[in-house]
Amino acid sequence: MKPMFKPKHKHRLARAPMPGPWCERVRLPDQRELWIRPIAANDAEPIQAGFALLHPDEIRKRYGYAMKEISDDYAHRLCHPLPGRDFVLVATDPMPPGRALVGAVARLVVDDDGHGAEFAILVSHFLAGQGLGRHMLCRLIQWGRRKRLREIHGDVLADNHPMLELAHELGFVRDNSHEPDDMVHIRLRLR
Ligand SMILES: CC(C)(COP(=O)(O)OP(=O)(O)OC[C@H]1O[C@@H](n2cnc3c(N)ncnc32)[C@H](O)[C@@H]1OP(=O)(O)O)[C@@H](O)C(=O)NCCC(=O)NCCS
Repeated sequence: MKPMFKPKHKHRLARAPMPGPWCERVRLPDQRELWIRPIAANDAEPIQAGFALLHPDEIRKRYGYAMKEISDDYAHRLCHPLPGRDFVLVATDPMPPGRALVGAVARLVVDDDGHGAEFAILVSHFLAGQGLGRHMLCRLIQWGRRKRLREIHGDVLADNHPMLELAHELGFVRDNSHEPDDMVHIRLRLR
């Protein structure tokens, strides 16, 4: 088995490539090993089951409103990304899709005009605060650059300080011209 790359500082994850595009093993600072890979069709059931373990506040921050469960329809769409239009990465425990618990989901959906893409991310509180959100968002940005997108953007609740702080550190800027006061529109120019 290939050794993991050593992290350069506390926020970088130890990681090693795995077979397949966008697939890698990472080790979090708490020593938990995870696999990061594109979402698969049979992740739907674990994602729906795992939703019950999330705190209401995590759900509110991700979706902007309260949700009790993920519908079959939404889970199906999430787990069947349209090639070239959706890019979805998951971080799971080291098991094959369908058997693996899904601890984080990061998604990009390309806008209808094809120039930009909207991001969304959720790292469950079991894994948060260890650099995983930063790493997965960086991967989305990497994908966006490869697709030669002009920008990545998203709407974040104004009280979501962790997300706004992370976005700021990655170079996102705020553009509040069109949003209600409780929402912040952020964008990162890619070229
Ligand atoms: C926001 C979120 C993705 C961050 O993921 P994470 O894995 O915890 O983030 P990381 O450990 O990579 O931390 C990256 C940066 O985020 C910020 N951050 C993370 N947790 C924070 C906290 N509790 N308070 C303030 N800033 C925080 C910091 O800037 C941190 O950088 P630092 O480690 O140099 O201080 C995660 O908390 C989450 O999924 N929240 C619920 C859903 C959500 O808010 N989604 C975003 C809207 S789509």
